Amino acid sequence: MSYPFAQYQESADYIRGRIGSFQPRVAMVLGSGLGFLGDVVKDPIVVPYPDIPHFKASTAPGHKGQLVFGTLEGKPVAVMQGRTHHYEGYSYEEVSYAVRVLRLLGCDTLVVTNAAGCVNTEWQAGDLMLITDQIKIFMESPLRGENLSEFGPRFPDSSHLYTPALREVARKAAYELDIDLKEGVYMYFPGPQYETPAEVRFARIAGADAVGMSTAPEVITAGHCGMQVLGFTLLSNMAAGILDQPLSEQEVLDAAAACRDKFSRLVLACLRTL
Ligand code: HPA
Repeated sequence: MSYPFAQYQESADYIRGRIGSFQPRVAMVLGSGLGFLGDVVKDPIVVPYPDIPHFKASTAPGHKGQLVFGTLEGKPVAVMQGRTHHYEGYSYEEVSYAVRVLRLLGCDTLVVTNAAGCVNTEWQAGDLMLITDQIKIFMESPLRGENLSEFGPRFPDSSHLYTPALREVARKAAYELDIDLKEGVYMYFPGPQYETPAEVRFARIAGADAVGMSTAPEVITAGHCGMQVLGFTLLSNMAAGILDQPLSEQEVLDAAAACRDKFSRLVLACLRTL
């Protein structure tokens, strides 16, 4: 099914009523571990998801479920503290609903972060990865159903979903901060079960460097409506089967906490030059 354009407008209109003349430019979807960046937004206007017509609440641990409007590094931002995931029971259109609403509110850039399993055996848990491209070939697209031409074309080009110029910004910022930034392909798996070792081998053969359960639907939707995208992955653990140990959510949260400082310095430095 697809939601009518008027419904997206209704959500945006409600938010406009809350933020007045504030005009966000950069939308940020913060995954596990970086949600705290929403707490350091200057002059914040907080809008909880349940207040917004048609918005979905996020139930994943470590996800607050609110939009924070204000400035970060001098840039007018809309920070999504918490995202929804397909594994919570939401459709892909629902998962990326907020992206379209933020586009209607004037955001032209999307910054996405996530935690993911590391598929590339040359790298280590705790490394940061700039996302160069993504693979999401299983299950449907968030754009399935009637095309809303107000947002974009029926068959959008996906050659450069992660904007090359923004990747260059990230490379420079990492260099200046002396942060080792890997670059690679993020492969989406729907979860909530972690991948099997065979699935991880499959992902590696397919060209993936990381596997995770978020981000790809939102980025497809952002690309469709003409937004520039910058994406980062915290490689919180080696993906299943690489080390002889079970994966746990605690490991992911611990890694996110340990890398929080490095990760946030990088994202904030990029924001300054966006
Ligand atoms: N797989 C999928 N999603 C994840 C992982 C993983 O290994 N780690 C953190 N999120």
